[in-house]
Amino acid sequence: MKSRANRHRELQAKRLQARAPAGQDAVERQHARGKKTARERVEMLVDPDSFTELDRFVVHRSNAFGLDEKEFLGDGVVTGYAEIDGRRVFLFAQDFTVLGGSLGEAFAEKICKVMDLAVRTGAPVIGINDSGGARIQEGVVSLGGYAEIFWRNVQASGVIPQISLIAGPCAGGAVYSPAITDFIIMTESISQMFITGPDVIKTVTGEDVSFEELGGAMTHATRSGVAHLVASDEAELFAQTKLLLSFIPQSNRDDPPRYSCDDDPDREAPELDELVPESPNKPYDIHRAIEAVLDYGDFLEILPLYAQNIVCGFGRIEGRSVGVVANQPNVLAGVLDIKSSIKAARFVRFCDAFNIPLLTFVDVPGFLPGTEQEYGGIILHGAKLLYAFAEATVPKVTVITRKAYGGAYDVMASKHIRADINLAWPSAEIAVMGAEGAVRTIFRREIAAADDAQAKMQQLIDEYTERFANPYIAAQRGYVDEIIDARATRSAVAGALRMLEKKHVAQPKRKHGNIPL
Ligand code: HXC
Repeated sequence: MKSRANRHRELQAKRLQARAPAGQDAVERQHARGKKTARERVEMLVDPDSFTELDRFVVHRSNAFGLDEKEFLGDGVVTGYAEIDGRRVFLFAQDFTVLGGSLGEAFAEKICKVMDLAVRTGAPVIGINDSGGARIQEGVVSLGGYAEIFWRNVQASGVIPQISLIAGPCAGGAVYSPAITDFIIMTESISQMFITGPDVIKTVTGEDVSFEELGGAMTHATRSGVAHLVASDEAELFAQTKLLLSFIPQSNRDDPPRYSCDDDPDREAPELDELVPESPNKPYDIHRAIEAVLDYGDFLEILPLYAQNIVCGFGRIEGRSVGVVANQPNVLAGVLDIKSSIKAARFVRFCDAFNIPLLTFVDVPGFLPGTEQEYGGIILHGAKLLYAFAEATVPKVTVITRKAYGGAYDVMASKHIRADINLAWPSAEIAVMGAEGAVRTIFRREIAAADDAQAKMQQLIDEYTERFANPYIAAQRGYVDEIIDARATRSAVAGALRMLEKKHVAQPKRKHGNIPL
């Protein structure tokens, strides 16, 4: 019989073994790839000494392809719970040193266990992904394991925040769990995401593409819109995760954390009076308005390099989180197109699911015309944004800075789709379309019949501008609640959000809506 001391030594030895289950050489190979190990990553991410590990001694049950001769404590994934800035989170970190971080039956069960605990207790799940995908030796069992995770991702969606950190390869079906989660943060040079790799692509389509070009962080940040944020290295990856978490609540049952704030809510921003140029066709950077209104000018932009004609991100007003959506006149004149509609719609739905009020800045000339957009389904994709703003029941405050034209006026959190407080700057132009387009449409014959067509058109444009290119007609009907000096926006928005703090909307009973996907 083992003595108490021997039992203790055995436990210590097994714990030590679990720290590097594939041996020290494998750890060194991971470092040589420029990557931290799963455990190092967890330690970098969470508060010191706050991590409690679960299932440290779990092993695989496979005996195929020589796996019966190999045993790895933990089966290639580190799971458990911890605190970040004093707040509970659940975690899994895939361990590439064990069979390439590939997912087998026991590995999947470990992830499912922490996801179930997270949903039951109402706390975010953070997954650190670094994996060759389904464990080939375990065959269909690993596919089943993935599907169990996907199902949980869906059940947890809108209930607890789910964040995917990509710190290595993420191939095949493995990308679909991150895709269902709320945010994906990729790490430059060490992470890739793709459904099929370069070799398969070469065989099927003949295209030559490198891993990085196909699925690297910059590809997904700029071209596909898959990566919400990009970190230059792992230290930045974890810093960004903590920053993102600071804006979002533990679950849909909670409000986001509130921070103390000594930035005066009534602080004026005189520079905003000059922000909108005299000429309606001149661009300007909407970030200047956003930063002037938020506490300390702090803004965490989501998808900053993708569909830049719309700006989405988090900030705070009086210490409370807000989700900001803003047309960006500096890019494509702030027009709504397929990509920007999808980007903003998903952001709006996240904020609505997690009790984060929406602050919308509007300067939009309309939807982007063209066959590419029409054939690409702008009707459906634009409707996503309309649907998302319309279904959102969190406090909604809208500020029209300049153009609010046509259907895009309705879409961008207008009063009619139940924004709570709609404000306009004196430079606002709320109309069916811009002056030139309107005049060409309704006075085509008069212009053609005029002796000097150019002069006639200019006269009509001036008349239309005088009559319609202002916020007063909308204000007369109560479509905007108040016209404010641009410099006073922070104070007006802060006051509106304070008034809306206890907003509650009773919802009709239904299974779920049918957003035009
Ligand atoms: C078992 C795997 C593995 C896998 C890698 N390894 N992927 N073991 N199942 N899927 C093992 C390797 O055999 C190797 O073991 C170790 O992990 C490290 O792999 P390397 O290839 O040496 O590393 P690297 O050069 O960095 O390349 C990493 C990689 C590559 C890009 C991920 O390994 C790769 O392409 N793997 C296969 C990816 C893939 O096709 N997965 C299946 C996708 S299908 P040793 O013992 O030599 O160290 C899928 C379906 C999910 O996931 C469906 C859900 C619906």
